[in-house]
Amino acid sequence: MKIVHFSDPHAGGPAEDWLAYFDKRWVGVFNYRFRRRYRHDLSKLERAVEYILSTRPDIAVCTGDLTSSGQPGEFEKVLAVLKPLAESGIPFYYLPGNHDCYVTRRKCVEAVHRAVTVLSNGRDVFAEFPLIRREAGVEMLLLNTSRPSNLLCSWGFVSREDSEKVAHWASEPHAMPRILLSHYPMTETHPILRMRHRLFGQKKIVEAMRKGEIDLVLCGHVHRPYLKVDAEGHGECCAGSVTRNASMVEITCDVATRKFSFRQVEL
Ligand SMILES: [Fe+2]
Ligand SMILES: [Fe+2]
Repeated sequence: MKIVHFSDPHAGGPAEDWLAYFDKRWVGVFNYRFRRRYRHDLSKLERAVEYILSTRPDIAVCTGDLTSSGQPGEFEKVLAVLKPLAESGIPFYYLPGNHDCYVTRRKCVEAVHRAVTVLSNGRDVFAEFPLIRREAGVEMLLLNTSRPSNLLCSWGFVSREDSEKVAHWASEPHAMPRILLSHYPMTETHPILRMRHRLFGQKKIVEAMRKGEIDLVLCGHVHRPYLKVDAEGHGECCAGSVTRNASMVEITCDVATRKFSFRQVEL
């Protein structure tokens, strides 16, 4: 079976109300205005959608950061591009990134919840994460690692409750290939990234990966793609930013042997 995995399109736009200058949104707006809009080309996301519609994988996954500041207008922009995919009948899994959960402002929170529902055609409810889904012979757990954090850092969090749930899921008898979907990487060790972009609370998950209880982690957040897997394809795959690198990952899984192979798709 085949999975297509992309991440971090980072649609952006101006501040959508004056209160944006009094919360973290101004950081995202500023970043978009002077940096991201020159780096992230949304037409690459259109090409990604075209590729997925023409190749029809068994599953499509987006591991978050649809937006830059989590504002409703930014979600609208990116949802318009993703609409043909959401309506294609191809099972599509989206989990929000830290930029999609940027602030606690009500309309932004409602926008990210709506995005999860719309992109899954009502199958997934963000408030009910973590979700376990079985599709095309594989088992996936959708984990939320994103929540508003302080002004300067992009920290991710696995709550104690979610960590227990993942550990319980991972300790069950292992019949199907088991894939954890997360915006944040579980194994990122870059010293600078670890400081500004670090994830808290993932210890039990890393331990489950080490014991082979979780076969593969699909993640984003880090905008350069990387693959940290063993000979069986077990480990962690980061898709990078689809709009920045013009690439995504096509994963082939032999369900019977639980082996994975990976191919970078240039857009
Ligand atoms: Fe990102
Ligand atoms: Fe991120």
